[in-house]
Amino acid sequence: MSTLASPSVQEQQFLEAFQQAIDTQKLDRVVLSQYKGELEQLEKITLRVIQLNQDTVLTCLYRHKTQDITKNYPLAEAQIQLSHLLADCKQANLFTTDQEIQLKKSKKKAMLSISKTAPTIAKPKEPQGHDREKQRYVDQSSPFLQHLGISDAKAQIIPSMARKWKQINKFIEIFSGALAQIKISENTLRVVDFGSGKGYLTFALYDYLQKQQFIPFVTGVELNPKMVEFCQSVASASDFQQLDFFQGDVRTYQPEHLDVMIALHACDVATDFAIHTGIRLNAQMIMCAPCCHKELRPQLQSPSVLQPMLQFGIHAGQQAEMLTDTIRALLLKAYGYDTKVFEFVALEHTSKNKMILATKRQNWSEPDQAVLAQIRDLKTMYGIQKHSLELLLNDQWDQQGIGSKC
Ligand SMILES: C[S@@+](CC[C@H](N)C(=O)[O-])C[C@H]1O[C@@H](n2cnc3c(N)ncnc32)[C@H](O)[C@@H]1O
Repeated sequence: MSTLASPSVQEQQFLEAFQQAIDTQKLDRVVLSQYKGELEQLEKITLRVIQLNQDTVLTCLYRHKTQDITKNYPLAEAQIQLSHLLADCKQANLFTTDQEIQLKKSKKKAMLSISKTAPTIAKPKEPQGHDREKQRYVDQSSPFLQHLGISDAKAQIIPSMARKWKQINKFIEIFSGALAQIKISENTLRVVDFGSGKGYLTFALYDYLQKQQFIPFVTGVELNPKMVEFCQSVASASDFQQLDFFQGDVRTYQPEHLDVMIALHACDVATDFAIHTGIRLNAQMIMCAPCCHKELRPQLQSPSVLQPMLQFGIHAGQQAEMLTDTIRALLLKAYGYDTKVFEFVALEHTSKNKMILATKRQNWSEPDQAVLAQIRDLKTMYGIQKHSLELLLNDQWDQQGIGSKC
């Protein structure tokens, strides 16, 4: 970091505006860019005020080309930390709840510009009674909604996207409920969305987490290169700096850490691979909406008493689907998760509307043998030889050895 030269008038005004935003609790974030200091590969620095355990601190996220580093400072040092960082950056943007202040520096001069921004929403109140329908978990004025084509330039929802808007809010409502139940040791949250598609839910999740003062690191994994390209451009236009997209198969994406695993309508056994990654990395939340169940249907043998019912193809398909998801839910239970299976809103590209939501139990040490026995009985009854999630977990558990944790 360079020696601190005396700040220009504009820099001083920027620092004062920053302090005032902290004092009035209007600060959203400061983004410093065009770094010219000595730290190699540093691209951007984002500053926020967060609650960490019992303390309110200034958190600085240093985004390098290949890694991110977070440092926290006492709030009393916020202005001095920013003035150090400002000395090495050519541009700084201060975002508050009602305005954006931009500082741009060149060799000859510094310029300050101020613009009004739409107010951000506060944390939503708990839905109550008949207001429940109207509850919105996503801030309608968020620019990402415009970039995704959900809202127009006046932040009004485009009529043809009204259903999608409702689904997004429902998804965030479920997510926020589960988030309150899980154990998170820091305010950083690593999320992977497997089969992210056009990213509607991925973006909403990132935006929601940011507004709840988390530092989200979200990755969407998607096979289709065009969708990945589109999502990357929207992430950049929305200035969602810790949201990225990986182009490839769910099976080939191997993150090192994961707090939340999401897989909404990832096709067939891609759901099993995604759930397995979540369990293996000890994800605190696993949220999936399974889609196209192909694996068990050809294996299904009707128990004689059920033959009159399962002779009809549609019933056999429904039975195979229910069995596939039951085994998934039971495996999650056996591997330490409180698990719910319930109806979600159907998305427009699929009528599938079942959600499996699992949150990690604390103090879990090894698979629950009674639940594994239930799975064995079900498989025997239907003549099932192979369920991908079960095989993946068996392999992993064999490698780890009994007694060790996931
Ligand atoms: C039905 S869309 C769902 C998109 C999004 N999750 C949602 O619910 O709105 C399923 C997406 O998963 C992707 N997908 C399917 N199988 C995949 C796999 N094995 N690996 C990565 N992406 C996959 C598809 O390309 C598609 O974009």
